[in-house]
This record gives sequence, structure tokens and C-alpha cells, in this order.
Amino acid sequence: MKDKLIIFDTTMRDGEQSPGASMTRDEKIRIGRALERLRVDVIEAGFPAASPGDFESVQAVANVIKDSTVCGLARALDKDIDRAGEALKGASHARIHTFIATSPLHMQKKLQMTPDQVIEYAVRAVKRARQYTDDIEFSPEDAGRSEEDFLCRILEAVIDAGARTLNIPDTVGYSIPQQFGATIKNLIERIPNSDKAIFSVHCHNDLGLAVANSLSAVMNGARQIECTINGLGERAGNASLEEVVMAVRTRQDVFACDTGIDTREILTCSKLVSSITGFPVQPNKAIVGANAFAHESGIHQDGVLKNRETYEIMRAEDVGWTANRMVLGKHSGRNAFKSRMTELGLVFDSEEELNDVFMRFKQLADKKHDIFDEDLQALVSEASFEAED
Ligand code: KIV
Ligand code: ZN
Repeated sequence: MKDKLIIFDTTMRDGEQSPGASMTRDEKIRIGRALERLRVDVIEAGFPAASPGDFESVQAVANVIKDSTVCGLARALDKDIDRAGEALKGASHARIHTFIATSPLHMQKKLQMTPDQVIEYAVRAVKRARQYTDDIEFSPEDAGRSEEDFLCRILEAVIDAGARTLNIPDTVGYSIPQQFGATIKNLIERIPNSDKAIFSVHCHNDLGLAVANSLSAVMNGARQIECTINGLGERAGNASLEEVVMAVRTRQDVFACDTGIDTREILTCSKLVSSITGFPVQPNKAIVGANAFAHESGIHQDGVLKNRETYEIMRAEDVGWTANRMVLGKHSGRNAFKSRMTELGLVFDSEEELNDVFMRFKQLADKKHDIFDEDLQALVSEASFEAED
């Protein structure tokens, strides 16, 4: 039996911190319901102390979601913890996620606190949050640039105070997969009470490594990934949910765990988040981009028509697409062309006729980006009209 890999979605909190991606209360409810259908384990619905609107949104999501845990973010301050606790009152399963920065840079320049004071705040915050729920998550912000010895000290203290999920954020996307994985392994081995908590990771994508770092952490013992739909999030974004989930599902030969995600709901969630935020999904985006399961080159089309596995490592249907897509363009071969023509009911009396239309198609594809079914129909009519002449 494999371990469970917990999926913690932060589209509505970190994702919303993307400039221009703010969401209304009703939009958050729609996204929350879609995430629940996706079977996300934890939904971080917002940061209740950030604004009265965000408080209301978290409260509204907490009231409608029944299966997933609903989480609210709070700095390690009494007033933030109380706002989060208040907003989550109606939740079937509530989690408070509290954080404080632990890197020397953040402690000295931003917080202007000593390491001992930071530990004191963290422990106090976790204890206060426990007045509202037993499900407490703690994050040492900027852990990717924090000293390992200090991380061990603060994490041991918050476990003793009652934190049950320890989230290690690579806040500025500075880590490299092998090194980040080693940090997770070292923390689990070195913290004496680490068996009382689940280790989680939260990776940003500043160097394009958020998914790679998250997966490396999982290979080294992390059992929760924090991620967002379409990789939305501060600056270059967070680890993309669809990518981490499908990497783990597709490569079960290398992972000792799996998620409970219903992957067939992935595309719907991606489209919903894109339409609500107005952030388009790039065509070549893994899993959810329009070209993710499209084949244009002749060699690939020919291979896929003979056996899909030649050029597909996942089934398009498994992530919500109706089917893979053969795109006819200048790289397409005669086989794919013929197969599409047959699907359209355009049959040829002879091989010569087929060759003639195929040649016309290649000439058109050199001039035109997208070849639509109407273009193919027009080619056939044009060829038969000239033959009659
Ligand atoms: O990136 C970060 O450090 C965060 C924390 C609040 C977990 O978003
Ligand atoms: Zn973040």
C-alpha cells in the first residue's frame, strides 16, 4: 500500500497574490467547489486578516465545502490567528496555516527580530491557533535561504506546541532540486519529534524549478505538496497542481506515494481559473495547454495512429480532454491527412486523386498557420471542379 500524498491547493491564496488575479467571494466559491470535485485534500481559501473581503470569502468557502479541509493563512500574530479562527468557524474541517520568516535576511531586515524572538512568536501562534482547531500548519518563510540548524530548532519547538504539518517554503524560488530534496531528508532525520508531523513543501517558480523541487522533496519524504491550478502565484508563480499530480501518477514506478486527485477534473479547473482571473494558459503548457496532446509532425501522427503510446505518455481523456488531437499542418504526413479526410467523409476514387489533394494541402499549409476542416473541404471541391473543367 502506497503512502498518501496530500494535495494542498493555494490558488485562492498564493494564486490570488498574482498581480491582477484577485477573486470575488462568489468566484472563490465556484473555484472551491471545482477543487472539491477534483478531490483536493486542503483548500487554502485566503488570508482572512488581509481584508474584510478576504475574511468573507474564506468564511463563505468554509461554509460550503464539506469534503476538503478549508485553510486560512495567518501571520504569527494573535490578531491574524483570531481572524482566521473566526472565518473558519463554519468549516467541516478547518486548518490554520501560520508562518514567520526564518532566513537571516528576513529576520534581520524585515522582522528586525532575533532568532529566539522568532521561535517565541512561532510557538505562541501555534498554541493560540490550537484554540480553534487541532489541524495546525506552520511555515518558516524563506526556508530555502534559512540555516538548517535554525530550521531544526524552530520546527522541533512548533511540533511540541501542536503543529501537525510542517511546510517548507522555497519562498523566492532559489532552491535547486537535489539540494532541496537533501534539506527535506536532513530535517526529517535530524528533528527528534519529526514523526509527529507531515512534511510539506511550497515551491515558487522564479527559476522555473518549482515542480522539480517539489518532486525532489517528495522523493525525500515530503508527503504534502502546496501548489496552484495553472501554476498561478506570486511573481513567476507556484508549482503547478496539474504537473505535480500527473508526474506522480504517470511515474508510479519511482514514487512511493500517490494523490487522491480525480485527474479527469483537471482541465475543467484549469479553464475555470483561467476564465475567472483572465490569465490565459499558454498553448504549450504541460497537461492543460491546447497543444499538450496535439500532434502535427508526420512521423508523430503516423506513430500515434498506429499506437498512441509511441508519442503519448498520458491519455488526454485522463486529464479531461475529449481526445488527443491531430493538427494538420505543413509537417503532417499523408497517413494523418488521409485519416482526417476519411473522418470528414471525404473519400477519393483513386490514389492519384488523393495525391493531388494532398499536394494542394501542402501548398496551402506553407502559407496558412491553421488548417481548418473547411479548408480541407474547399481543397476537395477545388480539385474536383478543376478535374471537371
Ligand atoms: O511563499 C511563501 O513563503 C508563502 C508562505 C506564506 C507559505 O506563501
Ligand atoms: Zn508562496
